[in-house]
Amino acid sequence: MSNLVIIGAQWGDEGKGKVVDIYTEYSEDVVRFQGGNNAGHTLVVGDEKIVLHLIPSGILHEGKRCIIGNGVVLDPKVFLEEIDGLKKRGYLKDDSQLLVDGNVHIIMPYHKVIDIAREKKSGDKKIGTTGRGIGPVYEDKIGRRGIRLYDLVRPEVFARKLKEVLPEKNFIIEKYLGEKPLLEQEIIDEYSGYAARLEKYLGCGSTAVSDSLDAGRNVLFEGAQGSLLDIDHGTYPFVTSSSTVAGGVCTGVGIGPRHINNVVGITKAYVTRVGSGPFPTELDDEVGEKIRKEGAEFGATTGRPRRCGWFDAVAVREAVRLSGLTGLAITKLDVLSVFETIKICTAYSHRGKLIEHFPRDFEILKECTPIYEEIEGWQTDITGAKSMADLPEVARAYLKRLTEVAGCPAVLISVGPRRDQTIQISDPFAR
Ligand code: GDP
Ligand code: IMO
Ligand code: MG
Repeated sequence: MSNLVIIGAQWGDEGKGKVVDIYTEYSEDVVRFQGGNNAGHTLVVGDEKIVLHLIPSGILHEGKRCIIGNGVVLDPKVFLEEIDGLKKRGYLKDDSQLLVDGNVHIIMPYHKVIDIAREKKSGDKKIGTTGRGIGPVYEDKIGRRGIRLYDLVRPEVFARKLKEVLPEKNFIIEKYLGEKPLLEQEIIDEYSGYAARLEKYLGCGSTAVSDSLDAGRNVLFEGAQGSLLDIDHGTYPFVTSSSTVAGGVCTGVGIGPRHINNVVGITKAYVTRVGSGPFPTELDDEVGEKIRKEGAEFGATTGRPRRCGWFDAVAVREAVRLSGLTGLAITKLDVLSVFETIKICTAYSHRGKLIEHFPRDFEILKECTPIYEEIEGWQTDITGAKSMADLPEVARAYLKRLTEVAGCPAVLISVGPRRDQTIQISDPFAR
């Protein structure tokens, strides 16, 4: 028995969905532990492309159980639409494949209104959120005003909690944000319909996962967002509102830390970021544009163009340290095939001083400039490579240098979006 945590080692969209889909083969349960439908995890099977926002990326595999842990925030409408979409495509034939912990916090209409209106009010200081209500719902969780799935399925409890919280929300919405207040009865009508459909998925994620662990089954934990978007350790305030590092698994599922064996960080062979905030290796030029075009770098959730830049080893070293990564899965190597030379940022410079550790002080980070090493490109199509030996020697040299400066070995290389465009170097579950 072994358990594996998958997390994003950059600012999100590293290809976690694809890697989780592949590793599901070796596990029995796939578990989301934080975030919500701000995530967009893309799976490509043959010619079919599926983007999942809430349901774990193991769902395409029949017989594998997918669990949404208590640390997730759930928009019931999006969740039910996702279920319908999967069923229409012939997946999720058995509803017992899916379990949602009763303690997940529910995203309410006012969370979305507040998220979007606050961003609008912030002008050029905005965070660039996905507008899905993520920050406001986590605020209510921490502020002990949240509504959980256990509350939603009990009509009187739901109505009581909504009655308590809505006047304050409407005060902010109307008086501070200048938007239209929300009607209690409309919310009750809409959400009672969701409750009726959600009930069959409700369960206890914490005991379900514990039972699996006790029975010696392999469990795969699927992170959303990325390490540098972590609420505590990311580039605050330009972060999401949950714990995206491996430590988030324990509280986001309800299991003890001794159950976590291996942690694989997913990283692109370059970097992207959506939304605002510091990004030292960002390329605001034709090179960045070329990466965006070759890598089709547009958000899977909002469709926004992603900001692009060269691989940043300082940032990935921070992810290795924060989550104790045991391996890296390096994705989108094929996207770099168009370049004559490729750069890797090995350290930063700050006012003439060499910086080798990712600055945790925002004021320093925003003034850092990258120090690069330039490496020869391979300029041939590698999308058919099945093993390391199939890659050109210069591509292997790039990977060798990347893992050296990142301080973590590679367990998987991805050379295209499809399942068969994957080089598995070692067993990520091996202990
Ligand atoms: P996630 O949020 O970490 O799951 O990543 P996204 O799905 O948001 O973004 C990754 C994008 O890259 C998706 O469109 C994937 O289909 C695609 N992708 C994943 N791995 C590769 C790869 O190795 N090469 C290429 N060209 N595309 C990839
Ligand atoms: P996956 O799981 C990339 C970013 C937003 C914004 C910041 C806060 O697909 O990798 P939020 O809506 O969470 O309050 O937005 O976080 N962000 C992501 N960026 N991938 C994601 O998820 C993201 N989820 C949130 O763009 O900068
Ligand atoms: Mg994504």
